[in-house]
Amino acid sequence: MGSARRSEEFFSEEGVAGFTHRAMTKSTGLDDESIRRPLIGICNTFSELNNCHSHFRTLCESVKQGVWQAGGTPVEFPTISLGETFLAPTSMLHRNLAAMDTEEMLRAQPLDAAVLLVGCDKTTPAALMGAVSADLPVIALSGGPQLNGHFRGQTLGACTDCRRLTAEHRAGAIDDETYRELEDGIVRGPGHCMVMGTASTMNSLTEALGLALPGNASIPAVDARRLQHAQAVGRRAVAIAAEDLRPSAVLTRESFENALTLLAALGGSTNAVVHLPAIAGRAGIELPLELVDEISRRTPVLADLKPTGRFQMQELHNAGGVPALLRRLLPLLHGGEMTVTGRTLADNVARARVEDAEVIRPLEEPVRPEGGIAVLRGNLAPDGAVVKHGAADPELLRHRGRAVVFEDVDDLKARIDDPGLEVDASSVLVLRNVGPVGGPGMPEVGNLPIPKRLLREGVRDMVRISDGRMSGTAFGTVVLHAAPESAVGGPLALVRDGDEIELDIDARSLTLHVPDAELARRRAAWSPRPAHYSRGYGRIFLDNVGQAPQGCDFGVLRGRDPVEGYRQPKF
Ligand code: FES
Repeated sequence: MGSARRSEEFFSEEGVAGFTHRAMTKSTGLDDESIRRPLIGICNTFSELNNCHSHFRTLCESVKQGVWQAGGTPVEFPTISLGETFLAPTSMLHRNLAAMDTEEMLRAQPLDAAVLLVGCDKTTPAALMGAVSADLPVIALSGGPQLNGHFRGQTLGACTDCRRLTAEHRAGAIDDETYRELEDGIVRGPGHCMVMGTASTMNSLTEALGLALPGNASIPAVDARRLQHAQAVGRRAVAIAAEDLRPSAVLTRESFENALTLLAALGGSTNAVVHLPAIAGRAGIELPLELVDEISRRTPVLADLKPTGRFQMQELHNAGGVPALLRRLLPLLHGGEMTVTGRTLADNVARARVEDAEVIRPLEEPVRPEGGIAVLRGNLAPDGAVVKHGAADPELLRHRGRAVVFEDVDDLKARIDDPGLEVDASSVLVLRNVGPVGGPGMPEVGNLPIPKRLLREGVRDMVRISDGRMSGTAFGTVVLHAAPESAVGGPLALVRDGDEIELDIDARSLTLHVPDAELARRRAAWSPRPAHYSRGYGRIFLDNVGQAPQGCDFGVLRGRDPVEGYRQPKF
């Protein structure tokens, strides 16, 4: 940091500017002693329309205690909260808006460092994207996962089991009353979804990136240790303000490789393959899809977690949490990378221990020998597509079938259960117009439902292809993020019912078996659909959003513009 902290510059300005800065701040009850201390922002994403963050008032108080303990002054401020289940058309449309909110509030306010309260799916990448661009010293603090769900002796996970049980209900295997009763037992309180979905994945990867304190990801939301952890974050935030330890000193190509290695070892969410390139893009680092595939191929899955495995975040925490897993992975990691603790990743986890080898396996006895995410190429996705093959039916890893094409989500809803739909278990279900532009916002609809008729015949998985995303809690042989997307003329726009499509995950290929001349004819006849928005944020989104391999960030937001000092035009 330069000669004066940003808050010092703010409070010591000459004339009426400094006078009003001090007077307005004192009107909140802070005194001269308080405003002499480093000013630590707490970016609070509390919202009653985000159940995953419903405990953030309490969590924020613990951060404040830690800040006071270490000689700082905490100042809480709101940024928008993205409740995954509450936002239409999809929270992904608002991720970049939340990132802009975080970046601009970190930049505009006289803060010396900040704590980012995150948790639910989009909140973690959004906060990190904004903070990386502002490059103010920050620590991310997750609200933690929900406790395990329980119902009639079963342990349930949100929302992997929401999907599984809904499929059983659609198949007629669960009656209406039981289906309604399940709702009462599956989500037992605050916190984010407790399987290794997108929220758990992104909060775990934040530890590997070095932007959270060790243990941040897995302490349950309602555990007293979550509040103790929040106090430690508050104390450390005061220290990083003094050290001027910024994200630019922490994030390197190697720290992103560490995050991708952890992603593979966790069997984590495909959404990380969108969010990590977006965060990296803010730091000026390119993360090509090939790197995702390369690291996934060489990294064994060590954590046995739903949706692909048996356990949930509570068990991961009791087994030693992410630090214990990172220690196991050290031979595959860049252990010398700096973190917000002021120490290296390897130092952070040096004393971590695996307490349950069923949950976190040894390197030589993995759950699976390679990571669960593969990157596909071919004439149906020239810029790449992603499949979570760890969550797929092994019989479908190599498959050739005839396309059944749905034009958009409305078309899918109208026809998927139509008894007259020409579909069988070998069909390939194709859904288009669900990408970043076409969705709009790339909704999580890529795991198309299996037609009811086939469910009743016992079919539980089929090959499904789209330019959309899939919830991290979902599963199946689901090819996602096909790029370029259909709405901008990607090849998915050209598929017709009955076309043969071949998926070969070993060969990493996705092929539409239609002659090039015929595809050229279809392309000549293709025209884009009307845009979803003509004004407002939606229009800004459509005009600026990038494709999935670039993380769906706005081009104008990539890169960083570090805050330096604090200047307002004087009176
Ligand atoms: Fe917030 Fe699942 S709804 S993480």
